[in-house]
Amino acid sequence: MTNPVFVALDTPDLAAAKALARELRPYVGGLKLGLEFFSAHGPDGVREFSGMGFPVFLDLKFHDIPNTVAGAVRSAMALDVAIVNVHAAGGPAMLAAAKEAAGGKARIIAVTVLTSLSDGDLAAVGQTPPAADQVLRLAKLVKACGLDGVVCSAHEIAPLRAALGKDFLLVVPGIRPQGAALGDQTRVMGPLEAHRAGADILVIGRPITAAPDPVQAARDIAESLGFSFT
Ligand code: C5P
Repeated sequence: MTNPVFVALDTPDLAAAKALARELRPYVGGLKLGLEFFSAHGPDGVREFSGMGFPVFLDLKFHDIPNTVAGAVRSAMALDVAIVNVHAAGGPAMLAAAKEAAGGKARIIAVTVLTSLSDGDLAAVGQTPPAADQVLRLAKLVKACGLDGVVCSAHEIAPLRAALGKDFLLVVPGIRPQGAALGDQTRVMGPLEAHRAGADILVIGRPITAAPDPVQAARDIAESLGFSFT
């Protein structure tokens, strides 16, 4: 089994991110670079991580007209990344354009409903709550458009796996080992529990990066998933 943990390097500090990635290399399966990092360092910053032997998930959540998103995905393909994401709410044509633009070089996944949105927020933007129904509706659309999977909360794994089958990639943030600070996450799950529920990739940020000893924290998580290190 490959290590399902992708560490989220949510920092504008390139040197610190690179140093941490190097140290964490034996204990995590990949890394996630998001908007905070990309806004500070752009494509050149992402390239700094190619050649480290990590699959990189570029979490920029593209959401625009199909032609623009296709262009953004094509540009991202020059960055040697393994996973790129878009917003499912961009609609079928946008989703299909993103997948086609990747040309099989990276997996394209979609965000359904941001986990920060409540049922009340959905109604405020003209979507029909409850959020769980909207997540399922959009995830089915994502699959029908030929994309590789979705980002979802741990509590959505079971219904999505049941509805979408075993080959659909479920990428899950909001993971908290027992005793870790919640931060701004509310509906969390432990790494082993989420892995057993059927998550393919566990996106974990602060429980590793803000730990007093990030390497030990990553190692503890990997060991809890059944990996052993000598
Ligand atoms: O530090 P923490 O483990 O909460 O980091 C989770 C990462 O996953 C962050 O980079 C966050 O932006 C991202 N994410 C999330 N919830 C989503 C989608 C992405 O926490 N629904």
